[in-house]
Amino acid sequence: MASSRPRIVLSAAMSIDGKIATKTGDSELSSRQDKTRVHRLRAKADAIIVGIRTVNVDDPLLTVRYTRGKNPTRIVLDSFGTILPSSRIIKTANKVPTIIAVSKKAPKKNLAKLVRYPVKILIAGQNKVELKKLLNILYEQKIKTILLEGGGTLNWEFIRHGLVDELIVTIAPYIVGGKDAITLVEGNGFSKILYSPKLKLHKIARQNNEIVLHYYS
Ligand SMILES: NC(=O)c1ccc[n+]([C@@H]2O[C@H](COP(=O)([O-])OP(=O)(O)OC[C@H]3O[C@@H](n4cnc5c(N)ncnc54)[C@H](OP(=O)(O)O)[C@@H]3O)[C@@H](O)[C@H]2O)c1
Repeated sequence: MASSRPRIVLSAAMSIDGKIATKTGDSELSSRQDKTRVHRLRAKADAIIVGIRTVNVDDPLLTVRYTRGKNPTRIVLDSFGTILPSSRIIKTANKVPTIIAVSKKAPKKNLAKLVRYPVKILIAGQNKVELKKLLNILYEQKIKTILLEGGGTLNWEFIRHGLVDELIVTIAPYIVGGKDAITLVEGNGFSKILYSPKLKLHKIARQNNEIVLHYYS
């Protein structure tokens, strides 16, 4: 791992058939026990990263609630600065440290709206948020460990750039189906298995009716 970027742990819950949400965006796959496990991971991380579509579809809080612990900084990758003021992340930004990462293409009027809220705006990249640039800035700001909480598009970008150090995936006992349902990793995908990272299986944990897989890169 390069020492000039934070350690990235990809965390997700997927169905047996690899979907992280249904075609309508319902992503309620995790059990209470799994949520507690994830919230323990959150409490140990310096930050959580998500893509703007996850914010738009799930309207998550991304805080530590199912266990005790500090809230990590929430980082939303939002190239054009479109996050809604009505989102729970913006509404709670006065209580939980929040970064909105945008690109140079973010319209001035969107940025003018965003600066009214207690969020930190980081500009990293020309047309969309450039991950390596962003991670270098975050590392300089003492963010050393990040939980990557999706969605599928963001997961692909991190994986294709070799930026995932650990992957912790819960297999929930559902079969979702549907070609339009988001999978764990979206994007273009690798054309050959040879190009895909070969991960090392570190741990398998049975959690009642779920399995938690833990891989290192
Ligand atoms: N089960 C789970 O564990 C889980 C976890 C999270 C999400 N989900 C589900 O996943 C779905 C959303 O996933 P998604 O794939 O549609 O979207 P996503 O990965 O959440 O967000 C993708 C968006 O992020 C923005 N972005 C900014 N910089 C980027 C970069 N460098 N690389 C990639 N994207 C970048 C892009 O929009 P701009 O160009 O506008 O910036 C892009 O369209 C939702 O249905 C949610 O419920 C499930």
